[in-house]
Amino acid sequence: MIGRNDLCYCGSGKKYKKCHMLKDEKKPKNPPERLNVRNDLVKTNDQVEGMRNSGAFNGQLMDYIRQFVRSGISTEEIDSLVHKYTIEHGHTPACLGYRGFPKSLCTSINNVVCHGIPSPDEVLKDGDIVNIDLTSIVNGYFGDSSETFMIGDVSSKARHLVDVTANALIRGIDAVKPGVPLIAIAEAIEPFVKSQGCSVVKTYTGHGIGQKFHEAFTVYHHVEKDCEPIVLKPGMTFTIEPMINLGGYEVITDRKDKWTVRTKDGSLSAQFEHTILVTDDGAEVLTLTPSQKKAGVRLHAAGVDYK
Ligand code: MF3
Ligand code: CO
Ligand code: CO
Repeated sequence: MIGRNDLCYCGSGKKYKKCHMLKDEKKPKNPPERLNVRNDLVKTNDQVEGMRNSGAFNGQLMDYIRQFVRSGISTEEIDSLVHKYTIEHGHTPACLGYRGFPKSLCTSINNVVCHGIPSPDEVLKDGDIVNIDLTSIVNGYFGDSSETFMIGDVSSKARHLVDVTANALIRGIDAVKPGVPLIAIAEAIEPFVKSQGCSVVKTYTGHGIGQKFHEAFTVYHHVEKDCEPIVLKPGMTFTIEPMINLGGYEVITDRKDKWTVRTKDGSLSAQFEHTILVTDDGAEVLTLTPSQKKAGVRLHAAGVDYK
C-alpha cells in the first residue's frame, strides 16, 4: 500500500501526495492505493548489468540457432548445437537438469504448448510451427526467451496464430511502464488475443527472473483475479511469454514424460518470450543482441523485426 506521505513509486524522491497521487485518483481502474510497492523486487544497478549480460547472450544464442531451424533437422540436433555454443562461450544452459529436465532447451512443435523435450525421433518438416525456448545462465544471471518458427509453407491458420502471438507479446511489452499495475500486461494481451479468435493459456505464466530462473512474481497473460496487486517500478526484471492457442485454452501434460504440455483439443499453439527490464520511462527488452537493440528491434518473429 502507498500512503500519502510515503515516497512516490515513480522514484522522484517526492512524497506520493506531492507527486502522482492526484493524477492516480482520477484513474478509475486499479486504484494505486490498493497496489503494493515491492522495493524488494527492484534490482540493484549491478544486478541490472548482470541481467543485461545474460539477456544479450541469450539473444546472441537465439540469433545463432535461427539458421539451423529448418526442415530436416531433429530437435535433438538443435539441442546439441545450443549446448555446445553455450558451453563454448563459458556459460550454462539453464534448462539442463532444472527440476530433472533432460535437455538444454525446450522445443515445442504444433499442438505442443511448452516444455517439449528435444528428441532424435522428432524431425522438423514443412508446415510445422516450432517454439525454441532458450535460457542461459551468465555469471549467475538468467536470460530467458523464445521464438516460434514456421517451417517452410505453413497453413494460413498457423500463420495467423504466430502473427497474433507475436503481437500479443509486443502489446504486453508496450504496457510495461513504471507506475502501472502488473495486471496491465494481461489487460493488454487477453482482449486482443480473443478479438483475433484465439485463446490465452492460463496454466503457464511469465515470471520474475534474476539470479534465479523463476522468482517473484507471476506475470499473468490473462486477466486473473489472483494477480498480485503490485505496481511496476524501474529495476524490476521479469519475462512476458504468452502461449496462445488456435482453439481452447485448456492444456494437458504428458503422463509419461511429465513435461510435454499439449493443447487439450489438439489445436496449434504458439509462444514468444522476452526477458524485460522496467526502465524510467517504459521497458527495455534484455534478450536481444546488441545490434538488434541498436536498431530499435523489440522482437524478431517469423522473419520480421518488430520495432
Ligand atoms: N524456459 C521456460 C520458461 O520460459 C522454462 C523451461 S523449464 C524446463 O519459463 F525445465 F522445461 F526447461
Ligand atoms: Co520464462
Ligand atoms: Co523460456
